[in-house]
Amino acid sequence: MCAFVTSVASLSLRSSVRAVCVSVAVKSGRVSGAAIRRGQFVTRAAPVSRPSTLASSARRSYSNSASSLRMMIKEGDPFPKGTFMQMKDGKPTEISTDDVFKGKTVVVCSVPGAFTGTCNARHLPGFVNLADQFRSAGAEVACLATNDPFVMEAWMKMRSAEGKVIPLSDGNASLLQQMGLTVDTGKFGGVRSRRFSMIVKDGVVKKLNVEDGTSFTDASSAETALQQLKQVMATA
Ligand SMILES: *[C@@H]1O[C@H](CO)[C@@H](O)[C@H](O)[C@H]1NC(C)=O
Repeated sequence: MCAFVTSVASLSLRSSVRAVCVSVAVKSGRVSGAAIRRGQFVTRAAPVSRPSTLASSARRSYSNSASSLRMMIKEGDPFPKGTFMQMKDGKPTEISTDDVFKGKTVVVCSVPGAFTGTCNARHLPGFVNLADQFRSAGAEVACLATNDPFVMEAWMKMRSAEGKVIPLSDGNASLLQQMGLTVDTGKFGGVRSRRFSMIVKDGVVKKLNVEDGTSFTDASSAETALQQLKQVMATA
């Protein structure tokens, strides 16, 4: 179990190293948008460089790499259109992103795996505990993962989150991939969501808090999201 957790974390770390490289490279103005090809977010090991060489190493890595990646979605971008799956009357049912987000404010907690250690013990429970406060502040709470809707429903039951947190399955990770928010966990469970929280207002991403790898910090916590939600609601 321990070895297995370590291996997931190290995979994720590599993905975050690459993500950091991209943002540094773009900010430096030395990599044009066109140089970053669109495609799957790949978590292949990237050489870890000293900060001063990050930009050039990223440029080298992307121009020479046969793999491609999606740029990570940022605040102000629309949540991609598509469908999630959800249990309805005992059956897995499609639910569109418009159904979830249109005309609403939704706080999304996204996790690498239902029932897994950190997601189960720390990340989701925060959102369950504060669900009433999110609601009073004018938002719904959703939990997103690549797990299938049967698993997500069972997980919500186990955490007493039914009626408080909307379970959303992105089984083939297509929406997560379009947002550049996936991590490949290999034999553990294939392509999964990175850990993040997000506030989506009327389909637009207003706040995005992405964790490094699968770690859990205050960044993606429910408490932080609640503070951010109050700001988002205050700024019309
Ligand atoms: C993922 O599944 C959805 C719904 O079944 C489908 O429309 C979409 O094309 C799939 N995407 C990929 C990349 O397989």
